[in-house]
Amino acid sequence: MVWTLALVLLLANSALGVLPFRKNIIIDTDLHSDVDDAGALLLACSHPGVKLLGVNINYPSIYSGLAASSLLGYYNHAHVPLGLKRPFTNATFFDDYEYVNGEYTSKVAYNWRHNASFPWANVSGTWNPVELYRKLLSEQEDQTVTIASIGFLDNLSDLLSSQPDTYSPLTGRQLVIEKVNELVVMGGSYPSGYEFNFFGYNSTAAAHVVNTWPGAVTFIGDKVGHYVLSGARLTIEGPERDPVRAAYTWYSGYNKSRSSWDPLTVLYAVEGLGRIFRVGGRSGHNHVYPDGRNVWRSWSNGWSHHYLELAVSNETAGSILDEKFIEGAVGAAYC
Ligand SMILES: *[C@@H]1O[C@H](CO)[C@@H](O)[C@H](O)[C@H]1NC(C)=O
Ligand SMILES: *[C@@H]1O[C@H](CO)[C@@H](O)[C@H](O)[C@H]1NC(C)=O
Ligand SMILES: *[C@@H]1O[C@H](CO)[C@@H](O)[C@H](O)[C@H]1NC(C)=O
Ligand SMILES: *[C@@H]1O[C@H](CO)[C@@H](O)[C@H](O)[C@H]1NC(C)=O
Ligand SMILES: *[C@@H]1O[C@H](CO)[C@@H](O)[C@H](O)[C@H]1NC(C)=O
Ligand SMILES: *[C@@H]1O[C@H](CO)[C@@H](O)[C@H](O)[C@H]1NC(C)=O
Ligand SMILES: *[C@@H]1O[C@H](CO)[C@@H](O)[C@H](O)[C@H]1NC(C)=O
Repeated sequence: MVWTLALVLLLANSALGVLPFRKNIIIDTDLHSDVDDAGALLLACSHPGVKLLGVNINYPSIYSGLAASSLLGYYNHAHVPLGLKRPFTNATFFDDYEYVNGEYTSKVAYNWRHNASFPWANVSGTWNPVELYRKLLSEQEDQTVTIASIGFLDNLSDLLSSQPDTYSPLTGRQLVIEKVNELVVMGGSYPSGYEFNFFGYNSTAAAHVVNTWPGAVTFIGDKVGHYVLSGARLTIEGPERDPVRAAYTWYSGYNKSRSSWDPLTVLYAVEGLGRIFRVGGRSGHNHVYPDGRNVWRSWSNGWSHHYLELAVSNETAGSILDEKFIEGAVGAAYC
């Protein structure tokens, strides 16, 4: 029965031209100071085009790790390995910039702890992010992994510098060349600027990754996500027990939307340009200075860098994300 149903669904999908193909995705997130990382994880866990290989957290708070574990568990992805940057801290978010946004990671972590893979307040079982990258990459077919970086670039920098280990005889740089198809980075401003993900933590690490990554990199700058608002609809229509609905409500408030840098990045990583994006910088390459400033340089000799622009209005992009949040949350609530 089950197989017949599966076959019918498969044929129906093929007939509609939808390939039952799932892209290998690794998410590198700073789930902590903004709620759009939670929206991005909801998308990554619920989008039918994603095979989520792993989640690495580049902010070292135990609450970031516990919240991610609660989210993965709730969205039926408890099996997905989780890396958390060392050494751990107990930091929680305090909005000393606008004094309006609320903290959500400790609350999601605690109130959905029954879904989490880790015992409360104990994240010693999380992976070292670099080891997790090396393990996951070594296990995949060549050129099949897309990495979506929606936070700081420290762990990717360490991956590039990593040496052969029990997981692979290759260096980190060789592993990336062999296994990674595309790195998608939410960071920088285009054609030039000064953006948080590049300067906010360790700008040297951001410069190291952007300036020396041995392969294709697609950038989504601050201006692309800033005016795309999403989340309010989830706080109103989402299932009552949904943790990302709760996260948006704690962070922004009921019926309040938030900029969508990270969900847009994950959407591009999964779907490619689709109808939402177009390539802004086609030739040229991105350069990050040691202080985190970036500039798009016009020569592309040897580089495979692009940056994205929206091909639809801010409002349309926001509605598409809202629709996907609802679909994902409703799907999880009834499975
Ligand atoms: C998450 O927890 C809720 C109740 O606490 C439970 O109904 C649900 O089955 C759990 N989901 C998973 C994936 O463990
Ligand atoms: C992740 O990046 C940080 C900063 O570069 C580094 O200290 C750490 O060793 C890396 N991996 C782990 C174990 O968190
Ligand atoms: C975090 O706080 C708990 C107690 O709430 C404490 O046991 C633990 O040592 C702290 N961890 C860090 C990394 O500060
Ligand atoms: C924390 O979890 C690990 C397993 O991930 C376990 O071995 C260890 O005993 C736990 N520590 C505490 C203090 O509960
Ligand atoms: C910043 O990143 C660089 C490159 O990965 C690393 O060498 C340096 O130790 C890091 N600095 C800090 C303070 O972690
Ligand atoms: C949400 O806010 C909008 C205005 O921003 C308003 O038009 C709408 O009625 C509100 N919806 C609910 C359910 O509160
Ligand atoms: C999004 O809104 C900003 C600010 O109003 C505007 O500058 C930009 O052109 C808009 N983007 C699109 C794709 O319409």
